[in-house]
Amino acid sequence: MTIELKHVRYSYPDTPDKLVLDINHWTVAAGEQIFVHGPSGGGKSTLLNLLSGILQADTGEVSVLGQRLDIINGRQRDRFRADHIGYIFQQFNLIPYLDAIDNIQLAHQFASKKTLSSLKADIKSLLSSFYIDPTDWHKPVAKLSIGQQQRIAIARAIINKPELLIADEPTSSLDQSNRDNFMSELMAMVAKYNTTLIFVSHDLSLAKHFNRIDGLAEINSAGADH
Ligand SMILES: Nc1ncnc2c1ncn2[C@@H]1O[C@H](COP(=O)(O)OP(=O)(O)O)[C@@H](O)[C@H]1O
Ligand SMILES: [Mg+2]
Repeated sequence: MTIELKHVRYSYPDTPDKLVLDINHWTVAAGEQIFVHGPSGGGKSTLLNLLSGILQADTGEVSVLGQRLDIINGRQRDRFRADHIGYIFQQFNLIPYLDAIDNIQLAHQFASKKTLSSLKADIKSLLSSFYIDPTDWHKPVAKLSIGQQQRIAIARAIINKPELLIADEPTSSLDQSNRDNFMSELMAMVAKYNTTLIFVSHDLSLAKHFNRIDGLAEINSAGADH
C-alpha cells in the first residue's frame, strides 16, 4: 500500500477544540491516480500536508511509501519529502526572477546527490519534452506565459521522479483551455512514470480525468458537523 491512514485525527494547535480531520481508514495503492474533492475549508490541504509530513497527526498512523510519518521527527520528515514526494501548489510557487532551469534545480537541492551536469541534462530534456523552447530556458519565469509556467511547475515536481505526486488545486487560477492542457500534460506524465497521484480540488469538473474519485466527506468524519 502506498498510503495507509488509520484512526488519524488532526486539529491546528491554535484551535485544539476544532477537529479538522478525523479519518478512520483510507488507503491508496501504488500507481493509483486519485481525485479528492471537497468544499473550501473542508481539510484538503491539511490532508495533503499530513501525507507529505509538513504536519504531523495528533493521533493515529500515517504510512506513506512504507514509512510511518507519525513516529519520525520533523527533520526526518523533511528528508523523506525531499526524497520521495513531488508537490504542485495552487500558484505554482515558482521563483519569478529565476529562470526555468534554476527553478527546477532548486527543487532538487535537498534530494539525493547527482552531479550538476547530469541534473542539468535531465532538466533540459524534461523542458524539451514539455515543449519549452531552449530560447525560453534562461528567461525569468515571470516573463513566460501561464501555460509555460504551469509546465515548469510540473517539471519541477517530477524532476526527482517521485513515487508520490501531490497536487493542491493546481488549476484554480487557470482559464479553461490552460486547465485542459495542464490536466492532459499532468496525466500523461504520471502515466509515463507510473506515479501515484493525489490531486485535490473543489472543482468537480476535473473528476473526468481520474478513475478513482473520493469525496473528502466520505473519508473525513470531522466534516460532518460543520
Ligand atoms: N494554519 C492554520 N491554522 C489554523 N487553522 C487552519 C490553518 N490552516 C487551515 N485551517 C483551518 O482548517 C480547516 C481546513 O482547512 P484546509 O485544509 O485549508 O481546507 P481546504 O484545503 O479544503 O480548503 C479550515 O477550517 C481552515 O480554516
Ligand atoms: Mg486548500
